[in-house]
Amino acid sequence: MKVLGIETSCDETGVAVYDTGPVSSTGPALSGAAGLRAHAVYSQIALHAEYGGVVPELASRDHVRKLLPLIRQTLAEAGLTTADLDGVAYTAGPGLVGALLVGAGVARSLAWALDVPAVGVHHMEGHLLAPLMEDDPPEAPFVALLVSGGHTQLVAVDAIGRYRLLGETLDDAAGEAFDKTAKMMGLPYPGGPQLAALAERGTPGRFKFARPMTDRPGLDFSFSGLKTQVLLAWRDSDQSEQTRADIARGFEDAVVDTLAIKCGRALDAAGSDVIVIAGGVGANKRLRARLQEIAAKRGGRACFPRPSLCTDNGAMIAFAGALRLEAGQHETAEVKVTPRWDMAALAPVIRNL
Ligand code: KG4
Ligand code: ZN
Repeated sequence: MKVLGIETSCDETGVAVYDTGPVSSTGPALSGAAGLRAHAVYSQIALHAEYGGVVPELASRDHVRKLLPLIRQTLAEAGLTTADLDGVAYTAGPGLVGALLVGAGVARSLAWALDVPAVGVHHMEGHLLAPLMEDDPPEAPFVALLVSGGHTQLVAVDAIGRYRLLGETLDDAAGEAFDKTAKMMGLPYPGGPQLAALAERGTPGRFKFARPMTDRPGLDFSFSGLKTQVLLAWRDSDQSEQTRADIARGFEDAVVDTLAIKCGRALDAAGSDVIVIAGGVGANKRLRARLQEIAAKRGGRACFPRPSLCTDNGAMIAFAGALRLEAGQHETAEVKVTPRWDMAALAPVIRNL
């Protein structure tokens, strides 16, 4: 089944085709030919940079401009035409309402014209399932750490589509904390990856920040206090290049440590040794190394998508949508988006594998 995936929830236009492989005459999909046929992402970073953050109306308009050319480009790269598509998946939420509506409108219209089913995908489920596109994918049950610009969540995955929230941030998301901290120290938007790159040159241990909420039981996070600590340290410093790198290193170590401590606790709570990490901050090298260490110590494993599939992309939406379409799930031809959406409300996916 060849599924076109469309992601437009924020400031990246993502398009991909995921192929679940040929369907046998007896019904279930045959494995082997499955895989990501093509994927392309157009980032709006340059558009929003001068404003220091995403401007929703500009984001919507740019999705309108870029989506159709990107669909054409992706299909050409996959060696396919629209007639080859068996279904369309799009991000239906959470996200910016105008941006979501662009993707939903195009996806629904295309599916209507091609007379194929379409399914609205939960953006965070897309992130969560992205590691399953890699070789030797983990099988549920496992614990997932979702760390993006808008979310920081620990989720017990009992089965695909069956999610229990174990903990989440009470204020800023991890990616948001990276971005805001970077901005405070004068780095351009989006600061997360730049702060991480700067931290590479930082001296470990020169600045030691708190590991918020690790001194008490529980799986929730809070990053806004850490941000304030960094602001004070930066304000009272000599503000040299080296100091900026040293503070960046101290901040990154504090976030990575905090996430790692809570992941260990979540694995204990869920009785699992498999942790899946997804979302933009999952591209962070030090976080990847640290969680791999923790999992190895427990005799388990840490699974990540390749870095390009950690940040927003159409591949994860094509893949998550393909699983649902293959299980017979799709909705009526209605352009409906859900800007706020609880992942625990999703229906389980019964796979015909
Ligand atoms: O998942 P994503 O692309 O978009 C959302 O759904 O929010 O995540 C973007 C977030 C941004 O906050 C960005 O700064 C952060 O992920 N990010 C990173 C790194 N790469 C992206 N944070 C830390 N280290 C990185 N290497
Ligand atoms: Zn995302």
